Amino acid sequence: MQYTAQLWPCWGPLPEPGSGPTDTAAPTIRRTMVTHNDIESALRRVIDPELGSDIVDLGMVKGIQIDGGSVTLTIALTIAACPMRDQIESDVVRKLEAMPGVEAVRVEIGAMDDAERAAVMSQARRHARENAEPTMINPLTRVIAVSSGKGGVGKSTLSVNLAAAIADQGHSVGLLDADIWGFSIPRMLGAADLRLSADETRKIHPALVAGIHLVSTGLIVTDEDTALMWRGLMLSKALEQFLRDVAWPRDLDYLVLDMPPGTGDIQMALARLLPQAELVVVTTPQKAAQKVAARVADMARRSFMPIVGVIENMSGFTTDEGKHYALFGQGGGQELADDLGVPLVGRIPLDPYVVEGGDSGAPAVRAHPSGPAATAMTLAAKELTELVPPAQDETCTSRIAVLAEQLAAMAGD
Ligand SMILES: Nc1ncnc2c1ncn2[C@@H]1O[C@H](COP(=O)(O)OP(=O)(O)OP(=O)(O)O)[C@@H](O)[C@H]1O
Ligand SMILES: [Mg+2]
Repeated sequence: MQYTAQLWPCWGPLPEPGSGPTDTAAPTIRRTMVTHNDIESALRRVIDPELGSDIVDLGMVKGIQIDGGSVTLTIALTIAACPMRDQIESDVVRKLEAMPGVEAVRVEIGAMDDAERAAVMSQARRHARENAEPTMINPLTRVIAVSSGKGGVGKSTLSVNLAAAIADQGHSVGLLDADIWGFSIPRMLGAADLRLSADETRKIHPALVAGIHLVSTGLIVTDEDTALMWRGLMLSKALEQFLRDVAWPRDLDYLVLDMPPGTGDIQMALARLLPQAELVVVTTPQKAAQKVAARVADMARRSFMPIVGVIENMSGFTTDEGKHYALFGQGGGQELADDLGVPLVGRIPLDPYVVEGGDSGAPAVRAHPSGPAATAMTLAAKELTELVPPAQDETCTSRIAVLAEQLAAMAGD
Protein backbone atom coordinates (compact mmCIF):
# COMPACT_ATOMS: atom_id res chain seq x y z
CA MET A 1 0.00 0.00 0.00
CA GLN A 2 1.48 3.37 -0.89
CA TYR A 3 0.11 6.86 -0.67
CA THR A 4 1.57 9.91 -2.31
CA ALA A 5 0.99 12.72 0.14
CA GLN A 6 1.92 16.37 0.01
CA LEU A 7 3.26 17.19 3.45
CA TRP A 8 5.28 20.05 4.76
CA PRO A 9 8.75 19.20 5.76
CA CYS A 10 9.15 19.15 9.51
CA TRP A 11 12.14 21.45 9.39
CA GLY A 12 12.36 25.06 8.25
CA PRO A 13 9.98 27.92 8.89
CA LEU A 14 6.26 27.36 9.00
CA PRO A 15 4.53 28.46 5.81
CA GLU A 16 2.82 31.78 5.55
CA PRO A 17 -0.91 31.48 6.13
CA GLY A 18 -2.67 30.92 2.80
CA SER A 19 0.48 29.75 1.00
CA GLY A 20 -0.04 26.03 1.61
CA PRO A 21 -2.62 23.58 2.83
CA THR A 22 -4.74 25.16 5.51
CA ASP A 23 -4.28 23.94 9.01
CA THR A 24 -7.73 22.48 9.04
CA ALA A 25 -7.54 20.64 5.68
CA ALA A 26 -6.19 17.06 5.60
CA PRO A 27 -3.10 16.48 3.40
CA THR A 28 -3.99 15.67 -0.23
CA ILE A 29 -3.74 11.91 -0.66
CA ARG A 30 -3.60 10.50 -4.18
CA ARG A 31 -4.05 6.69 -4.47
CA THR A 32 -2.09 4.92 -7.20
CA MET A 33 -4.52 2.93 -9.34
CA VAL A 34 -3.22 -0.45 -10.33
CA THR A 35 -3.99 -1.66 -13.85
CA HIS A 36 -4.46 -5.04 -15.49
CA ASN A 37 -1.14 -4.55 -17.29
CA ASP A 38 0.70 -3.79 -14.03
CA ILE A 39 -0.59 -7.00 -12.50
CA GLU A 40 0.30 -9.02 -15.57
CA SER A 41 3.85 -7.61 -15.63
CA ALA A 42 4.27 -8.52 -11.96
CA LEU A 43 2.99 -12.04 -12.60
CA ARG A 44 5.52 -12.44 -15.39
CA ARG A 45 8.12 -12.45 -12.65
CA VAL A 46 6.55 -15.51 -11.02
CA ILE A 47 8.35 -18.52 -12.45
CA ASP A 48 7.00 -22.05 -12.16
CA PRO A 49 10.08 -23.66 -10.61
CA GLU A 50 9.56 -26.96 -12.38
CA LEU A 51 8.55 -25.79 -15.81
CA GLY A 52 11.05 -22.93 -15.88
CA SER A 53 8.74 -20.37 -17.51
CA ASP A 54 6.64 -17.59 -16.04
CA ILE A 55 3.05 -18.31 -15.13
CA VAL A 56 1.62 -15.84 -17.67
CA ASP A 57 3.56 -17.41 -20.52
CA LEU A 58 2.49 -20.85 -19.36
CA GLY A 59 -1.16 -19.78 -19.56
CA MET A 60 -1.73 -20.40 -15.87
CA VAL A 61 -3.31 -17.00 -15.23
CA LYS A 62 -6.95 -17.46 -16.10
CA GLY A 63 -8.36 -14.22 -14.72
CA ILE A 64 -7.40 -10.90 -13.17
CA GLN A 65 -10.09 -8.87 -11.44
CA ILE A 66 -9.34 -5.49 -9.98
CA ASP A 67 -11.71 -3.73 -7.64
CA GLY A 68 -10.04 -0.58 -6.37
CA GLY A 69 -7.10 -1.86 -4.37
CA SER A 70 -8.21 -5.47 -4.16
CA VAL A 71 -7.08 -7.95 -6.75
CA THR A 72 -8.57 -11.38 -7.33
CA LEU A 73 -6.60 -13.83 -9.44
CA THR A 74 -7.66 -17.11 -10.92
CA ILE A 75 -4.71 -19.45 -11.43
CA ALA A 76 -4.85 -22.89 -13.02
CA LEU A 77 -2.04 -25.24 -12.04
CA THR A 78 -1.02 -28.18 -14.25
CA ILE A 79 -2.52 -30.57 -11.71
CA ALA A 80 -4.62 -29.79 -8.64
CA ALA A 81 -2.20 -31.58 -6.30
CA CYS A 82 0.81 -29.72 -7.73
CA PRO A 83 3.59 -29.89 -5.13
CA MET A 84 4.62 -26.38 -6.14
CA ARG A 85 1.18 -25.00 -5.29
CA ASP A 86 2.13 -23.26 -2.03
CA GLN A 87 5.31 -21.85 -3.48
CA ILE A 88 3.57 -20.41 -6.55
CA GLU A 89 0.71 -19.03 -4.47
CA SER A 90 2.92 -17.29 -1.93
CA ASP A 91 5.17 -15.95 -4.68
CA VAL A 92 2.14 -14.45 -6.44
CA VAL A 93 0.81 -12.89 -3.24
CA ARG A 94 4.19 -11.43 -2.26
CA LYS A 95 4.80 -9.94 -5.71
CA LEU A 96 1.36 -8.34 -5.88
CA GLU A 97 1.23 -7.07 -2.31
CA ALA A 98 4.46 -5.22 -2.92
CA MET A 99 2.84 -3.21 -5.72
CA PRO A 100 1.73 0.38 -5.24
CA GLY A 101 -2.05 0.52 -5.17
CA VAL A 102 -2.64 -3.10 -4.16
CA GLU A 103 -4.29 -3.47 -0.79
CA ALA A 104 -5.58 -7.01 -0.80
CA VAL A 105 -4.85 -10.07 -2.92
CA ARG A 106 -7.05 -13.11 -3.23
CA VAL A 107 -5.89 -16.13 -5.25
CA GLU A 108 -8.30 -18.77 -6.47
CA ILE A 109 -6.44 -21.90 -7.49
CA GLY A 110 -7.81 -24.49 -9.87
CA ALA A 111 -6.40 -27.12 -12.23
CA MET A 112 -5.99 -27.16 -16.01
CA ASP A 113 -7.98 -29.49 -18.20
CA ASP A 114 -6.23 -32.10 -20.38
CA ALA A 115 -5.96 -29.84 -23.43
CA GLU A 116 -4.55 -26.93 -21.43
CA ARG A 117 -2.09 -29.25 -19.69
CA ALA A 118 -0.90 -30.66 -23.03
CA ALA A 119 -0.40 -27.12 -24.36
CA VAL A 120 1.55 -26.02 -21.31
CA MET A 121 3.76 -29.10 -21.41
CA SER A 122 4.61 -28.58 -25.06
CA GLN A 123 5.40 -24.93 -24.27
CA ALA A 124 7.68 -26.02 -21.40
CA ARG A 125 9.39 -28.50 -23.72
CA ARG A 126 9.93 -25.79 -26.34
CA HIS A 127 11.41 -23.59 -23.65
CA ALA A 128 13.70 -26.42 -22.50
CA ARG A 129 14.77 -27.04 -26.08
CA GLU A 130 15.63 -23.39 -26.59
CA ASN A 131 17.69 -23.41 -23.40
CA ALA A 132 19.23 -26.85 -23.82
CA GLU A 133 22.91 -27.15 -23.12
CA PRO A 134 24.93 -27.97 -26.23
CA THR A 135 25.69 -31.66 -26.84
CA MET A 136 27.06 -33.62 -29.78
CA ILE A 137 23.61 -35.03 -30.49
CA ASN A 138 21.94 -33.50 -33.51
CA PRO A 139 18.68 -31.83 -32.41
CA LEU A 140 17.00 -33.77 -35.23
CA THR A 141 17.98 -37.12 -33.70
CA ARG A 142 14.99 -38.78 -32.00
CA VAL A 143 15.93 -39.86 -28.50
CA ILE A 144 14.15 -42.83 -26.94
CA ALA A 145 14.95 -43.46 -23.28
CA VAL A 146 14.00 -46.96 -22.17
CA SER A 147 13.10 -46.59 -18.50
CA SER A 148 11.20 -48.11 -15.65
CA GLY A 149 10.44 -47.35 -12.04
CA LYS A 150 12.18 -50.55 -11.02
CA GLY A 151 15.06 -52.88 -11.88
CA GLY A 152 15.25 -56.20 -13.66
CA VAL A 153 12.21 -55.73 -15.90
CA GLY A 154 14.18 -55.98 -19.16
CA LYS A 155 15.22 -52.40 -19.97
CA SER A 156 18.66 -53.40 -21.24
CA THR A 157 17.31 -56.38 -23.16
CA LEU A 158 14.72 -54.17 -24.84
CA SER A 159 17.19 -51.33 -25.51
CA VAL A 160 19.50 -53.69 -27.39
CA ASN A 161 16.77 -55.45 -29.32
CA LEU A 162 14.85 -52.28 -30.16
CA ALA A 163 18.07 -50.60 -31.33
CA ALA A 164 18.89 -53.60 -33.53
CA ALA A 165 15.34 -53.82 -34.91
CA ILE A 166 15.23 -50.08 -35.65
CA ALA A 167 18.63 -50.32 -37.38
CA ASP A 168 17.25 -53.24 -39.41
CA GLN A 169 14.47 -50.95 -40.63
CA GLY A 170 17.26 -48.99 -42.32
CA HIS A 171 17.68 -46.21 -39.77
CA SER A 172 20.96 -44.96 -38.39
CA VAL A 173 20.92 -45.84 -34.67
CA GLY A 174 23.03 -44.98 -31.62
CA LEU A 175 22.82 -46.82 -28.31
CA LEU A 176 23.95 -45.15 -25.11
CA ASP A 177 24.26 -47.29 -22.01
CA ALA A 178 23.17 -44.69 -19.46
CA ASP A 179 23.35 -47.30 -16.72
CA ILE A 180 26.77 -45.89 -15.87
CA TRP A 181 27.96 -48.42 -13.32
CA GLY A 182 25.43 -51.18 -13.93
CA PHE A 183 26.34 -51.38 -17.62
CA SER A 184 25.28 -54.56 -19.38
CA ILE A 185 24.97 -53.58 -23.04
CA PRO A 186 28.51 -54.45 -24.23
CA ARG A 187 28.09 -58.05 -23.07
CA MET A 188 24.64 -58.26 -24.66
CA LEU A 189 26.14 -57.19 -27.99
CA GLY A 190 29.22 -59.41 -27.67
CA ALA A 191 31.45 -56.34 -27.39
CA ALA A 192 32.70 -56.68 -23.81
CA ASP A 193 36.33 -56.72 -24.98
CA LEU A 194 36.07 -53.66 -27.23
CA ARG A 195 37.51 -50.34 -26.04
CA LEU A 196 36.59 -46.88 -27.25
CA SER A 197 39.33 -44.63 -28.55
CA ALA A 198 39.66 -40.88 -28.73
CA ASP A 199 40.85 -38.89 -31.76
CA GLU A 200 43.35 -36.02 -31.83
CA THR A 201 40.63 -33.56 -30.77
CA ARG A 202 40.13 -35.78 -27.69
CA LYS A 203 36.65 -36.75 -28.80
CA ILE A 204 35.69 -40.35 -28.10
CA HIS A 205 34.29 -42.32 -31.03
CA PRO A 206 31.39 -44.73 -30.52
CA ALA A 207 32.09 -48.37 -31.38
CA LEU A 208 30.14 -49.62 -34.37
CA VAL A 209 28.77 -52.95 -33.13
CA ALA A 210 26.21 -54.93 -35.11
CA GLY A 211 25.42 -51.79 -37.12
CA ILE A 212 24.74 -49.76 -33.95
CA HIS A 213 26.86 -46.84 -32.70
CA LEU A 214 27.53 -47.88 -29.11
CA VAL A 215 28.85 -46.04 -26.06
CA SER A 216 29.04 -47.55 -22.59
CA THR A 217 31.16 -47.17 -19.48
CA GLY A 218 31.90 -50.86 -20.06
CA LEU A 219 33.85 -49.89 -23.19
CA ILE A 220 36.01 -47.44 -21.25
CA VAL A 221 36.88 -49.06 -17.95
CA THR A 222 39.48 -51.79 -18.10
CA ASP A 223 38.27 -54.03 -15.30
CA GLU A 224 35.57 -54.38 -12.68
CA ASP A 225 37.73 -52.51 -10.14
CA THR A 226 37.95 -49.45 -12.36
CA ALA A 227 34.21 -49.75 -12.82
CA LEU A 228 33.88 -49.37 -9.07
CA MET A 229 35.84 -46.12 -9.25
CA TRP A 230 33.11 -44.70 -11.48
CA ARG A 231 30.77 -44.99 -8.54
CA GLY A 232 32.51 -41.97 -7.07
CA LEU A 233 31.76 -39.97 -10.19
CA MET A 234 28.59 -37.96 -10.30
CA LEU A 235 26.26 -39.88 -12.57
CA SER A 236 24.87 -36.83 -14.24
CA LYS A 237 28.44 -35.69 -15.03
CA ALA A 238 29.18 -39.03 -16.69
CA LEU A 239 26.07 -38.74 -18.84
CA GLU A 240 27.04 -35.18 -19.70
CA GLN A 241 30.47 -36.41 -20.86
CA PHE A 242 28.92 -39.13 -22.98
CA LEU A 243 26.81 -36.53 -24.73
CA ARG A 244 29.43 -33.79 -25.04
CA ASP A 245 32.74 -35.58 -25.50
CA VAL A 246 31.64 -38.33 -27.83
CA ALA A 247 31.73 -37.67 -31.56
CA TRP A 248 28.24 -39.05 -32.23
CA PRO A 249 27.46 -39.23 -35.95
CA ARG A 250 25.50 -36.16 -37.06
CA ASP A 251 23.08 -38.22 -39.12
CA LEU A 252 21.75 -40.46 -36.31
CA ASP A 253 18.03 -41.00 -36.81
CA TYR A 254 17.61 -42.51 -33.35
CA LEU A 255 19.52 -42.59 -30.10
CA VAL A 256 18.28 -45.32 -27.77
CA LEU A 257 19.19 -44.89 -24.10
CA ASP A 258 19.27 -47.78 -21.67
CA MET A 259 18.36 -46.02 -18.44
CA PRO A 260 19.43 -47.18 -14.98
CA PRO A 261 16.66 -48.56 -12.77
CA GLY A 262 14.51 -46.12 -10.86
CA THR A 263 14.13 -42.42 -11.21
CA GLY A 264 16.67 -39.83 -10.27
CA ASP A 265 19.68 -37.78 -11.26
CA ILE A 266 20.22 -39.37 -14.66
CA GLN A 267 16.64 -38.69 -15.72
CA MET A 268 16.84 -35.07 -14.65
CA ALA A 269 20.22 -34.65 -16.40
CA LEU A 270 18.75 -36.24 -19.52
CA ALA A 271 15.86 -33.78 -19.55
CA ARG A 272 18.34 -30.92 -19.23
CA LEU A 273 20.81 -32.18 -21.83
CA LEU A 274 18.51 -33.81 -24.36
CA PRO A 275 15.12 -32.13 -24.11
CA GLN A 276 13.96 -34.00 -27.20
CA ALA A 277 14.14 -37.26 -25.21
CA GLU A 278 10.96 -39.31 -24.97
CA LEU A 279 10.37 -42.14 -22.54
CA VAL A 280 9.36 -45.70 -23.19
CA VAL A 281 8.25 -47.24 -19.92
CA VAL A 282 8.93 -50.93 -19.38
CA THR A 283 6.87 -52.94 -16.94
CA THR A 284 6.03 -56.55 -16.15
CA PRO A 285 2.41 -57.78 -16.36
CA GLN A 286 2.05 -57.69 -12.60
CA LYS A 287 -0.96 -55.58 -11.66
CA ALA A 288 0.93 -53.89 -8.86
CA ALA A 289 2.23 -51.55 -11.55
CA GLN A 290 0.40 -48.49 -10.25
CA LYS A 291 3.18 -47.50 -7.88
CA VAL A 292 5.72 -47.74 -10.66
CA ALA A 293 3.38 -45.76 -12.90
CA ALA A 294 3.05 -43.02 -10.35
CA ARG A 295 6.83 -42.78 -9.96
CA VAL A 296 7.56 -42.73 -13.68
CA ALA A 297 4.74 -40.32 -14.44
CA ASP A 298 5.88 -38.03 -11.67
CA MET A 299 9.45 -38.09 -12.94
CA ALA A 300 8.28 -37.46 -16.51
CA ARG A 301 6.17 -34.55 -15.32
CA ARG A 302 8.99 -33.06 -13.25
CA SER A 303 11.38 -33.27 -16.16
CA PHE A 304 8.61 -32.60 -18.73
CA MET A 305 9.63 -35.52 -20.89
CA PRO A 306 6.82 -37.00 -22.94
CA ILE A 307 6.04 -40.70 -22.49
CA VAL A 308 5.70 -42.38 -25.90
CA GLY A 309 4.25 -45.64 -24.67
CA VAL A 310 4.51 -48.68 -22.44
CA ILE A 311 6.12 -52.01 -23.26
CA GLU A 312 5.04 -54.98 -21.20
CA ASN A 313 7.87 -57.49 -20.90
CA MET A 314 7.85 -61.05 -19.56
CA SER A 315 4.20 -61.37 -20.62
CA GLY A 316 3.76 -65.04 -19.89
CA PHE A 317 5.25 -68.11 -21.47
CA THR A 318 3.71 -70.27 -24.19
CA THR A 319 4.91 -73.87 -24.52
CA ASP A 320 5.54 -75.57 -27.87
CA GLU A 321 2.18 -77.26 -27.34
CA GLY A 322 0.54 -73.84 -27.16
CA LYS A 323 -0.19 -73.84 -23.42
CA HIS A 324 0.11 -70.35 -21.96
CA TYR A 325 1.37 -69.62 -18.46
CA ALA A 326 0.95 -66.11 -17.09
CA LEU A 327 4.00 -66.47 -14.86
CA PHE A 328 4.15 -62.85 -13.79
CA GLY A 329 0.42 -62.14 -13.78
CA GLN A 330 -1.35 -60.23 -16.53
CA GLY A 331 -2.87 -56.90 -17.46
CA GLY A 332 -0.21 -54.68 -15.82
CA GLY A 333 1.06 -53.23 -19.10
CA GLN A 334 -2.37 -52.17 -20.32
CA GLU A 335 -3.25 -50.81 -16.90
CA LEU A 336 -0.07 -48.76 -16.77
CA ALA A 337 -0.62 -47.49 -20.33
CA ASP A 338 -4.19 -46.48 -19.42
CA ASP A 339 -3.01 -44.75 -16.26
CA LEU A 340 -0.45 -42.77 -18.22
CA GLY A 341 -2.80 -42.14 -21.15
CA VAL A 342 -0.34 -43.60 -23.69
CA PRO A 343 -0.45 -46.62 -26.03
CA LEU A 344 0.74 -50.11 -25.09
CA VAL A 345 3.45 -50.44 -27.70
CA GLY A 346 4.17 -54.13 -27.21
CA ARG A 347 3.79 -57.24 -25.07
CA ILE A 348 6.97 -59.32 -25.11
CA PRO A 349 6.60 -62.92 -23.94
CA LEU A 350 9.15 -64.81 -21.88
CA ASP A 351 11.44 -66.59 -24.26
CA PRO A 352 14.63 -68.58 -23.58
CA TYR A 353 16.10 -67.15 -26.80
CA VAL A 354 16.19 -63.76 -25.10
CA VAL A 355 18.34 -65.06 -22.24
CA GLU A 356 20.52 -66.96 -24.69
CA GLY A 357 20.92 -63.85 -26.87
CA GLY A 358 21.84 -61.77 -23.81
CA ASP A 359 24.60 -64.21 -22.90
CA SER A 360 25.91 -65.00 -26.37
CA GLY A 361 26.05 -61.40 -27.52
CA ALA A 362 23.56 -61.79 -30.37
CA PRO A 363 20.25 -60.00 -29.75
CA ALA A 364 17.21 -62.25 -30.20
CA VAL A 365 15.78 -60.09 -33.02
CA ARG A 366 18.89 -61.00 -35.05
CA ALA A 367 19.71 -64.52 -33.81
CA HIS A 368 16.16 -65.90 -33.67
CA PRO A 369 14.02 -63.39 -35.57
CA SER A 370 11.02 -65.69 -35.76
CA GLY A 371 11.03 -66.56 -32.03
CA PRO A 372 8.04 -65.28 -30.00
CA ALA A 373 9.93 -62.52 -28.17
CA ALA A 374 11.87 -61.41 -31.27
CA THR A 375 8.65 -61.18 -33.31
CA ALA A 376 7.01 -59.07 -30.59
CA MET A 377 10.09 -56.85 -30.19
CA THR A 378 10.36 -56.24 -33.95
CA LEU A 379 6.69 -55.24 -33.97
CA ALA A 380 7.19 -52.96 -30.98
CA ALA A 381 10.14 -51.29 -32.77
CA LYS A 382 7.93 -50.71 -35.81
CA GLU A 383 5.17 -49.24 -33.68
CA LEU A 384 7.73 -46.99 -31.96
CA THR A 385 9.18 -45.64 -35.18
CA GLU A 386 5.65 -44.87 -36.30
CA LEU A 387 4.90 -43.04 -33.07
CA VAL A 388 8.27 -41.26 -33.19
CA PRO A 389 9.13 -41.00 -36.90
CA PRO A 390 12.66 -39.97 -37.85
CA ALA A 391 12.82 -36.18 -37.75
CA GLN A 392 14.83 -36.11 -40.96
CA ASP A 393 11.77 -37.53 -42.72
CA GLU A 394 9.77 -34.60 -41.48
CA THR A 395 11.92 -31.95 -43.11
CA CYS A 396 10.59 -30.23 -46.19
CA THR A 397 13.11 -31.74 -48.57
CA SER A 398 12.21 -35.29 -47.68
CA ARG A 399 8.50 -34.44 -47.68
CA ILE A 400 8.90 -33.12 -51.22
CA ALA A 401 10.81 -36.28 -52.17
CA VAL A 402 8.01 -38.47 -50.78
CA LEU A 403 5.43 -36.37 -52.61
CA ALA A 404 7.36 -36.64 -55.89
CA GLU A 405 7.55 -40.41 -55.41
CA GLN A 406 3.80 -40.61 -54.82
CA LEU A 407 3.08 -38.47 -57.89
CA ALA A 408 5.39 -40.63 -60.02
CA ALA A 409 3.63 -43.77 -58.75
CA MET A 410 0.22 -42.26 -59.57
CA ALA A 411 1.39 -41.29 -63.06
CA GLY A 412 2.57 -44.88 -63.57
CA ASP A 413 -0.85 -46.34 -62.57
N1 LIG B 1 11.29 -61.48 -22.55
C1 LIG B 1 12.21 -62.09 -21.83
N2 LIG B 1 12.27 -63.46 -21.80
C2 LIG B 1 13.20 -64.09 -21.05
N3 LIG B 1 14.12 -63.46 -20.30
C3 LIG B 1 14.11 -62.12 -20.29
C4 LIG B 1 13.16 -61.37 -21.05
N4 LIG B 1 13.42 -60.05 -20.84
C5 LIG B 1 14.47 -59.99 -20.01
N5 LIG B 1 14.88 -61.22 -19.66
C6 LIG B 1 16.00 -61.56 -18.77
O1 LIG B 1 15.75 -60.89 -17.53
C7 LIG B 1 16.96 -60.46 -16.95
C8 LIG B 1 16.87 -58.95 -16.66
O2 LIG B 1 16.83 -58.26 -17.90
P1 LIG B 1 17.58 -56.89 -18.11
O3 LIG B 1 18.97 -56.96 -17.62
O4 LIG B 1 17.35 -56.50 -19.52
O5 LIG B 1 16.71 -55.97 -17.14
P2 LIG B 1 16.99 -54.45 -16.70
O6 LIG B 1 15.64 -53.84 -16.48
O7 LIG B 1 17.90 -53.80 -17.64
O8 LIG B 1 17.72 -54.68 -15.31
P3 LIG B 1 18.50 -53.56 -14.44
O9 LIG B 1 17.44 -52.74 -13.81
O10 LIG B 1 19.28 -54.38 -13.48
O11 LIG B 1 19.34 -52.77 -15.40
C9 LIG B 1 18.07 -60.83 -17.93
O12 LIG B 1 18.65 -62.02 -17.51
C10 LIG B 1 17.33 -61.04 -19.24
O13 LIG B 1 17.97 -61.98 -20.09
MG1 LIG C 1 19.77 -52.84 -17.31
